[in-house]
Amino acid sequence: LQQVRPAPHSTDFQNPRNFSMIIVTGGCGFIGANFILDWLRQSDEPIINVDKLTYAGNPATLASLQGDARYHFVQGDIGDSALFDRLLMQNPRAVINFAAESHVDRSIHGPADFIETNVSGTFRLLESVRAHWQGLDDAAKSAFRFLHVSTDEVYGTLTDTDPAFSETTPYAPNSPYSASKAASDHLVRAWHHTYGLPVLTTNCSNNYGPYQFPEKLIPLILLNAVAGKPLPIYGDGLNVRDWLYVTDHCSAIRRVLEAGKVGETYNIGGCNEKTNLDVVHTLCAMLDELKPRANGRYADQITFVKDRPGHDRRYAIDARKIERELGWKPAETFETGIRKTVQWYLDNADWVANVQTGAYREWVQTQYQEAPACASASAPASA
Ligand code: NAD
Ligand code: DAU
Repeated sequence: LQQVRPAPHSTDFQNPRNFSMIIVTGGCGFIGANFILDWLRQSDEPIINVDKLTYAGNPATLASLQGDARYHFVQGDIGDSALFDRLLMQNPRAVINFAAESHVDRSIHGPADFIETNVSGTFRLLESVRAHWQGLDDAAKSAFRFLHVSTDEVYGTLTDTDPAFSETTPYAPNSPYSASKAASDHLVRAWHHTYGLPVLTTNCSNNYGPYQFPEKLIPLILLNAVAGKPLPIYGDGLNVRDWLYVTDHCSAIRRVLEAGKVGETYNIGGCNEKTNLDVVHTLCAMLDELKPRANGRYADQITFVKDRPGHDRRYAIDARKIERELGWKPAETFETGIRKTVQWYLDNADWVANVQTGAYREWVQTQYQEAPACASASAPASA
């Protein structure tokens, strides 16, 4: 671990011959780490990963890259202009911004970090990138890209009969998290329109897959289930999300980076609308098959708890633009992706134990004490 985690602010990577390389921010989180692993499986183009290592950043996810000359980690904040001024001297052809505070429930408990990283941090990063980009020669200027990874939550909520979110749906964010992401998207747009910075923005639906921090629905349910704990469902469990397997999100980002039109936004989704209750029942049925309980069924552990304040009812993505213009389509169905995910969490108890630190346990305590049980299917038996 030490070797993939050099001293904070290390900028020891040198690119004297101006080889093609990219900078990724937030690459120790769920999607960023999957993106880096995927990238280096398919390409030898080096990556510098700049991550602050908040509670959500886990360098152990990238431990397999230890000693790999194509991968360089720098612990740092996207808002640290001096750090980025130095890193950008390595001449990346692109910066991909995954770094963010990403959990809606945490944004309700404490919005300040969301404004600091998602809004002010993105602003400072854009300013560093703009200063660098303006100093490039014409060819390098037109080849450069700043790709901002964003969310469908900026569009707000849908009724059961509304059409899915398209790139022209007006922004109407409802949570501190989505408002902060919407603000960052607007800054990115403005840096293109005002300064000409060659930006691309992606707005993706709910991701699931390996290495997701277990504060989010799918890993939380899986880990609680096998630990014999209640499976907390907010409200009536009929909120709808549109689920996408994480490597499909990664392939969409690669495609947008490669062929996306500068200044455009692309919606990314899996065409997998499911109620939360459906998702949880699917997970329970899969666990019944792969790791049966000694007695009873995992669904017996389902517990309805107090709803999330301002809980968006439904998200759905219209991903026809990225399919039509860039030829991207997801490779996984919900059925194939969720089976891989369940199996991954069952097979990777060490990774799970590593992220379940004191800080994680404290969060679970705060969140679920404030969302008391409304009804329970039956008392859980030990698995
Ligand atoms: P995550 O919370 O798992 O990871 C975020 C990473 O960013 C962590 O490694 C963290 O240490 C790092 N980070 C936080 N603040 C930072 C800062 N100031 N400077 C540098 N690094 C910092 O998030 P995720 O689920 O991987 O999401 C990645 C991006 O994708 C986010 O921008 C999120 O809004 C967006 N997104 C997520 C989803 C989803 O379903 N998870 C869907 C669509 C879009
Ligand atoms: O839509 C994209 C977004 O998806 C991303 O931008 C966010 O970063 C990501 O966290 C995710 O947001 P959600 O709020 O949709 O994800 P979460 O996993 O927190 O919740 C999914 C649904 O499950 C939501 O309707 C709330 C519900 N839920 C969640 C938890 C943690 C429960 O019912 N019980 C729970 O314990």
